[in-house]
Amino acid sequence: RKLGILISGRGSNMAALVEAARAPDCPFEVALVASDKPEAAGLAWAAEQGVATFAQSPKGMPKAEYEARIDAALRNAGVELIALAGYMRLLSPAFVERWAGRILNIHPSLLPKYKGLDTHARAIEARDAVAGCSVHLVTEELDAGTVLGQAEVPVHLGDTAEALAARVLVEEHRLYPRILAEFVRSMADTPLARVRSVALAL
Ligand code: GRF
Repeated sequence: RKLGILISGRGSNMAALVEAARAPDCPFEVALVASDKPEAAGLAWAAEQGVATFAQSPKGMPKAEYEARIDAALRNAGVELIALAGYMRLLSPAFVERWAGRILNIHPSLLPKYKGLDTHARAIEARDAVAGCSVHLVTEELDAGTVLGQAEVPVHLGDTAEALAARVLVEEHRLYPRILAEFVRSMADTPLARVRSVALAL
């Protein structure tokens, strides 16, 4: 299955997916890495690795046009499902609808706790004993789609948000490729794939 990855910055989760895709038994290949920030460090890394990249700043254009360009780039690359990896923009309901059930995201908290930003500081503030990350399906509502998998880490006494973030990130890099591979393997059985293969057979 061809995967498109959307990033906005560092791209360490994207890199984990690109590296996982090199395993011979991996059921996904990375067809495109796209960013809303042309200067994103992850974009340069992906290009160095020989992965196709696409940059489109949303500046100075309506959101619908920006998303139409991203959508066209993904489709031109043959992308069948999308992984958000540190993509810092909320996708419109229209975009989510067009890719319904085929967009995943990784979020650095144990959802449904701490949707949105500053997850680690909030976990520390709440004196949580465990923190972690979640891979979930993307719906219109921020960080609210079905959770597909989670990994936990302990919160240590005196943890800073940075220290906790680093501990969680190690788990993110393990969790995302694993859950994505599971998801892709299960996609073959989804009604959506069945409908599409019937349509193609006609
Ligand atoms: C990660 O913590 C991810 O969970 C969150 O944004 C961060 C992105 O980091 N959505 P990176 O760009 O993958 O290094």
